[in-house]
Amino acid sequence: MNLLTTRYLTVDPVFPDPDVIAQAARMLADGGLVAFPTETVYGLGARADREESVAKIYQAKGRPAHNPLITHVPDVAAARALVGEAWGPLHDQLAEAFWPGPLTLVVPRPAHIPAIVSAGLDALALRVPAHPVATALLRAAGVPVAAPSANRSSQLSPTRAAHVREGLDGRIDVLLDGGSCDVGLESTVLDLTQDPPVILRPGRITLQVLSAIVRDVKSHRALEIPQGISRPSPGLDSKHYAPRAALSVVTRQGLSQALASALRPVGVVTVGPWLAAPADVFLYTLADDAESYARALYETLHALDRKGCKSIVCEAIPEGEHWDAARDRLRRASA
Ligand code: TXA
Ligand code: MG
Repeated sequence: MNLLTTRYLTVDPVFPDPDVIAQAARMLADGGLVAFPTETVYGLGARADREESVAKIYQAKGRPAHNPLITHVPDVAAARALVGEAWGPLHDQLAEAFWPGPLTLVVPRPAHIPAIVSAGLDALALRVPAHPVATALLRAAGVPVAAPSANRSSQLSPTRAAHVREGLDGRIDVLLDGGSCDVGLESTVLDLTQDPPVILRPGRITLQVLSAIVRDVKSHRALEIPQGISRPSPGLDSKHYAPRAALSVVTRQGLSQALASALRPVGVVTVGPWLAAPADVFLYTLADDAESYARALYETLHALDRKGCKSIVCEAIPEGEHWDAARDRLRRASA
C-alpha cells in the first residue's frame, strides 16, 4: 500500500484537549484511519457507516476478510439508537452493568452498517469503551467507529502508542497518544444472537460476573477445539496475539529445563518471584494477581520482542476464571 504521513498527537488521558480531539475526529469523519487508546488496548478506528473507510482498516492491518470488526459508540444511548428494534431488556441490563467498559455485545447488524464491518455476517459486535480519550473522540466524530486492535494482523495488541507506531507507522493517518492502557487485554466478547448467549472471547468481565445477569451464559471453553477443525466464530483463529519470538508455556517445575534448551536470546515471564532464574535470560516477574498480570502481559511480550528474543518461556498461570483471559491469550500466542 502507499505510505501515508502519520500524524502523532499527544493527549492528556484524563482531560483530553478538545482541539486535538477535534482534529482526530475530523480525520475520522473524512474517512481516515485514527488509532486511539481505549481502556483495553489501542484501537484502529474508521467510520463504520462507510464501506470504503472500513476497507482501509483491513488493508492497513493486513487483516483477513473473514475477521469481523468491533464497532464503538460513545454511550448507551448511541448503542440503543444504532441497534434499534433488536435492542431489548437484556441489552439494557448488560449496558447498565458494564458500559462504559470492557464488554463487547454481538447483536443483529443494523441495515445501515455495511456488511464489511462484520466480514459479511448478519451480526455486529458493539462496545462502549471506558477511556476519556475514546469517549471524547467518539462523541466528536458523531458516527459509529469500527476499531479492531491497532496492530498488524495476528501480532500482539498494542497497549501503548509506541507499540502502534512500530506496526502501523505510515499506514494510518493519525495516532492519538494517550498513555498506556489500564486493562491490557481485549474486551470480553458476548454473543447475544445465540440462545443461550455464549462468550466468544474471555476478558476482564468474567463468566461468573455475567451469570448474575445472563441466565445460562455459555463459557468460551466450549469453543476451545483443536486447531484444524472448523472455526467456531470467524476471526477466532487459534494463532493470534503472538509475539515474534516462539512462545511456550510451562509450569514452575519445568522452567529450568525449558530454558536450558531454548533459543537465545530468551525471555522468561514468571508469576511472582523466581529466585532460581539463570543469569543469561531476560527475566520479567509479573504480579500474581490476575488484573496486574493482564495489564503487564502484552507490554512485557512487546519488550522481549524489542530486545530481539528468539524465544519466550512463560510460566503457566494459576487456575481460576479471573485468569481466563490471560490464559486464553497465552494459549493463542503459543499455538
Ligand atoms: O478490547 C477490544 O475489544 C479492542 C478495543 C480496540 O476495543 N478491540 C479488539 O478488536 O480487540 P479485534 O478486532 O482485535 O477483535 C475483535 C474480535 C474478532 O476477532 C471476532 O472474533 C469478534 O471480535 N467479533 C467481531 N465481530 C463479530 C461478530 N459479528 N460475530 C462474532 N464475533 C465477532
Ligand atoms: Mg486484535
